[in-house]
Amino acid sequence: MSIETQVDEASRVEIFDTTLRDGEQSPGISLNTQEKVEIATQLARLGVDVIEAGFPITSPGDFEAVEAIARTVSGPVVCGLARTQKADIEAVWGAVKDAERPRIHTFISTSDIHIAHQLQTDRADVKGQARAAVAHARELCADVEFSPMDATRADVEFTAEVCAIAVAEGAGVINVPDTVGYTTPEEFTAYLERLYALVPELRSVRLSVHCHDDLGLAVANSFAGVLAGARQVECAINGIGERAGNCSLEEIVMLLRTRRSDHGLDTTVETTELARTSRMVSRFTGYAVQFNKAIVGRNAFAHESGIHQDGVLKERTTYEIMDARDVGLESNSIVLGKHSGRHALKDALHELGFRVEGNALNQAFKAFKALADKKKQVTALDLEAIVSDEMRESEGRYELAWFEVEAGSRRSPLARVGVTTPAGVEATGESGGDGPVDAVFGAIQAAAATECELNQYTVSAVTEGGDALGEVTVMLRAHGRLASGQGVSTDIIEASARAYVRALSNALDGAAVREAESVAADAASSPVPPGP
Ligand code: KIV
Ligand code: ZN
Repeated sequence: MSIETQVDEASRVEIFDTTLRDGEQSPGISLNTQEKVEIATQLARLGVDVIEAGFPITSPGDFEAVEAIARTVSGPVVCGLARTQKADIEAVWGAVKDAERPRIHTFISTSDIHIAHQLQTDRADVKGQARAAVAHARELCADVEFSPMDATRADVEFTAEVCAIAVAEGAGVINVPDTVGYTTPEEFTAYLERLYALVPELRSVRLSVHCHDDLGLAVANSFAGVLAGARQVECAINGIGERAGNCSLEEIVMLLRTRRSDHGLDTTVETTELARTSRMVSRFTGYAVQFNKAIVGRNAFAHESGIHQDGVLKERTTYEIMDARDVGLESNSIVLGKHSGRHALKDALHELGFRVEGNALNQAFKAFKALADKKKQVTALDLEAIVSDEMRESEGRYELAWFEVEAGSRRSPLARVGVTTPAGVEATGESGGDGPVDAVFGAIQAAAATECELNQYTVSAVTEGGDALGEVTVMLRAHGRLASGQGVSTDIIEASARAYVRALSNALDGAAVREAESVAADAASSPVPPGP
């Protein structure tokens, strides 16, 4: 950390990253354990204070991922989410107990609208549940966070009573969520001031804010929260999350850093890791970052008008309030070529934050050599793309074995594919279509004997130049489940086919998980919760 980013404890705002929990609740996102561990490792490099790794009671896969993160990632607190039920709290503890610094985060709604319609109970019961949940969590874990869900639409007096109970039972962090993104900065400030007045004990714990972006105010409301005294902000990379998403991590961090001299507050995030983290999350989730997105969008530091270009050439600060290098854009300095060896690749990957050893390194080396044969220079961005692509392959899922396409402007396209099924058998399929990509998608459906509805298809180039790698994201619905998949290749049809097969696998995996959940839920007659 540089001298300028040193900050005393009272002025330090902790960053609680919920990309892997609230972010992962976005439709179509299906991350496997390896991808979640890779993202968590990168979040640790970024220097976040807390990683909310998942909601362990919701599925065996979620439990396994939280546990894997707790066991491998060091530095940040690793936290899991729980309703007030004993089973939820015990599931979180089971998953996080091996972390260097474990935390249990439990929540219950305090708004009458949620109490009456969703929980179908009354205020007295909510108080009892909050008390029992925090007390039980504290028996298991020294670090407990409590959230009164939908607080900003709740009666502040009642929310204060519930928060006072949570503090009395030993919660060290009280998080105030704007669950439906309804509040405004002025209103949120007044709400938090009133909460402090009603519960003076809040001054002895860490106050946190968790804002959703339904009205585009998540960052503004979070900023109002820290000005009112909160010292933890819950946020997600690229602002992903339920509905319109959460407060964007990169935006709140750079807002605090850039205007630090005005308010004296800051985080200890290593901002030069922001762009890379954003790319990794975008790639693994299939959620593209809009070009004009603040801080990490591809145009965030681009100047189009002649007047602006002229100004920036003369003096960068004429039109830039931040330096692109401070957020890790313009750090594409690693360049390998076809004569680079395994050692050079390993070092480059290490520098990029990938822990690639043994067989994974062999696979990465093979992919690198294949790419270096087609492309003169392999850059950091290419390496990130091919290694992420390799990581998506795993046993027991559908995989593209081969494909052939006949297409042209004077004939209808025809595609044939070979797909290796989860049982390890090769199935083949054939189809026509509106174009070569559509024909390949049809052939994959035929091979997998599954009908899919294509929801979204995007292609982008990883770097500039005619020999750039193409990166394809497919979102589709199969067996009632929306899932995404990505593929990377210098050949767009191959990238598309790989993305499609992965999306299909993710949808089918998800359907299998849901089936297992409903069997388990029937057996326990306790429904698995929908995400908060
Ligand atoms: O939005 C919300 O209220 C949440 C809570 C679980 C903190 O995600
Ligand atoms: Zn939320």
